[in-house]
Amino acid sequence: MTLSHSMLAVEIPAPGGPEVLQPCSVPVPVPGHGQIIIRVAWAGVNRPDALQRAGAYAPPPSASPLPGLECSGTVVEVGPGVTRWQIGDQVCALLPGGGYAEYAVTHEAHALPIPLGLSLREAACLPETCFTVWSNVVMRGRLKAGERFLVHGGTSGIGTTAIQMARALGARVFATAGTDEKCQVCHELGAEVAINHRSQDFVAVLKEQGGADLILDMVGGPYIERNIKALADDGRLVQIAFLQGPKVTLNFAELMMRRLTLTGSTLRPQSDLAKARIAREVEENIWPMIARGALTVVVDSEFDLRNAAAAHRRMESGAHVGKIVLKVQD
Ligand SMILES: NC(=O)c1ccc[n+]([C@@H]2O[C@H](COP(=O)([O-])OP(=O)(O)OC[C@H]3O[C@@H](n4cnc5c(N)ncnc54)[C@H](OP(=O)(O)O)[C@@H]3O)[C@@H](O)[C@H]2O)c1
Repeated sequence: MTLSHSMLAVEIPAPGGPEVLQPCSVPVPVPGHGQIIIRVAWAGVNRPDALQRAGAYAPPPSASPLPGLECSGTVVEVGPGVTRWQIGDQVCALLPGGGYAEYAVTHEAHALPIPLGLSLREAACLPETCFTVWSNVVMRGRLKAGERFLVHGGTSGIGTTAIQMARALGARVFATAGTDEKCQVCHELGAEVAINHRSQDFVAVLKEQGGADLILDMVGGPYIERNIKALADDGRLVQIAFLQGPKVTLNFAELMMRRLTLTGSTLRPQSDLAKARIAREVEENIWPMIARGALTVVVDSEFDLRNAAAAHRRMESGAHVGKIVLKVQD
């Protein structure tokens, strides 16, 4: 198959609001050693895309400057050294960037087969959240069956995945969300307790239960101190974002007195090797959960690639439940 030289994409010509996202024509990427080119059918939208658009999350130097961290589609070209995939294979993949485009390039080890029973539309929503949740909750946070797990933003893309995955691992799941309707969704996904953070104090709720063994937090700011209070002795706090800011004044004595662990990570700048290791664990552990129906993809809405600005507006409205996805091509 001969690929055309240029493709439709959506770029960020200058940092700003959703309106800066502009359709454009750019060269089709060329695969390097170990890389594949995917003809993108669907591209997942993630909060980090909005941060990149606003100028607050620069892509790593080697990555495409186009937004888009995940996609699904068909392999149309393989670079030298590629062993797993052949032209014509359908995959979903973690991308270093460049998902808002008709063709995307990624390392072959960062692509996974479409899980049994899922559509390409659903599969496009998996990589960024599954890699993030698995690597932070299990590889870093060491969640075990029977432990009390708290996730903030329970109806976010990350939250809907984290609730179901932790439940499938046998943990007791607690989640926070901003409305009673969102809390109901958290219950339906498997949270034992859903806390409306506008009317309830999550610290009090968790303390009543003996404290959280593990917290996955994206809020930061004033939540950092409150999370520490909500942890059980020997508890772990894993930070994956700071929606309310990364800087606080803290008394660290509790860390020492109650043997707490504070950690965190961000996926995008990690090495190809580290992402390949996460990919293997995701395929071995999460794909079977999906196949047996223990983890479903919650899709909030879809938008045409050219209308990516509307997708970002939807995300930043905070009204969405689950994932937002871009339709790129049939
Ligand atoms: N570290 C990593 O590698 C990594 C990878 C992917 C994503 N992330 C981060 O994980 C978070 C979730 O990502 P996502 O794509 O799932 O995003 P999303 O669907 O937009 O979720 C954001 C959630 O945060 C909650 N929230 C609480 N306080 C907020 C505030 N001050 N501003 C905005 N939202 C607030 C919102 O729920 P309520 O309004 O109901 O509280 C919303 O559900 C993002 O912060 C993202 O940057 C990190």
